[in-house]
Amino acid sequence: MFEEAQYFAPIAAQDDGSVVVELASSHPGFADPVYRARRNAIAGLAVNHRRGTPIPVATYTEQEHEIWALVTRELAIKHSRYATAEYLAGTARLGLPEARIPQLEEVSQLLEPLTGFRYLPAAGLVPLREFYGVLADGYFHSTQYIRHHSVPFYTPEPDVIHEVIGHANALASDRYAALYRLAGAAARRVESAEALEFVSKVFWFTLEFGVMREGTELKAYGAGILSSYGEIEEFRGMDIRPLDIQAMGTTHYDITKYQDVLFQADSLQHLEDVVGGFWDTCDDDSIARLLAVPA
Ligand code: TRP
Ligand code: FE
Repeated sequence: MFEEAQYFAPIAAQDDGSVVVELASSHPGFADPVYRARRNAIAGLAVNHRRGTPIPVATYTEQEHEIWALVTRELAIKHSRYATAEYLAGTARLGLPEARIPQLEEVSQLLEPLTGFRYLPAAGLVPLREFYGVLADGYFHSTQYIRHHSVPFYTPEPDVIHEVIGHANALASDRYAALYRLAGAAARRVESAEALEFVSKVFWFTLEFGVMREGTELKAYGAGILSSYGEIEEFRGMDIRPLDIQAMGTTHYDITKYQDVLFQADSLQHLEDVVGGFWDTCDDDSIARLLAVPA
């Protein structure tokens, strides 16, 4: 998960090493003190983790495992209709558990032999440069807590379902994993905050919310669409625009609702050429030129 501050304030680390996060009043867990305590306790596991050591085990409740199982069932049906073939191949390759939440350490162990990616626990906000930069080394920062049980089909902040079902199944594909690595290398290469934001917006409109033409159909490969069985039913009716780096890097989005502007690749090759090519070569100067041209 990367910085999106609208639903939760920056983490306050307590003296005992635990964390407290303030949820916005619009978060489905806002008025549920039991949920908030669970979320904070699980987020706290990440605080003292050091890279290269095993990820702390989160002990989930039966109710939490049941949310995972429910969302997995619902998403499997939607994915068969709406996900790209390459994402479905990644899903088959990875073989996530269906009935219970996997530990992030387990996700790493499934993923690493396939594409070299490993998961890192995130307590909440990870600064943009860190979140993206480590993608270049094959690391993916992930929350460990799960969405509120009252709204399983959509959650306003990334949770373990989004990070694992949305992202890990894509990261199990060699071709998508290569794109994640290129995004990371681009984030490391650029120096200005404006260029970094531009790189992150291209990520948002592709690996988070991208859609792709497959034959006569429109499919989703973006993790944010693929982890929400509410949003996945809606994307075909949105404002679908042609893949365009300058447009993606400068279009505004609102993280608090279903995304109503989406960018369509004509094929995976097209995505690799345009977006992979951009991340592979962009720098502060080339991005400054894209920002200078009126959209
Ligand atoms: N809405 C997503 C889901 O229900 C989770 C999510 C919240 C998200 N904010 C996001 C995903 C931002 C990507 C980017 O699974
Ligand atoms: Fe995400």
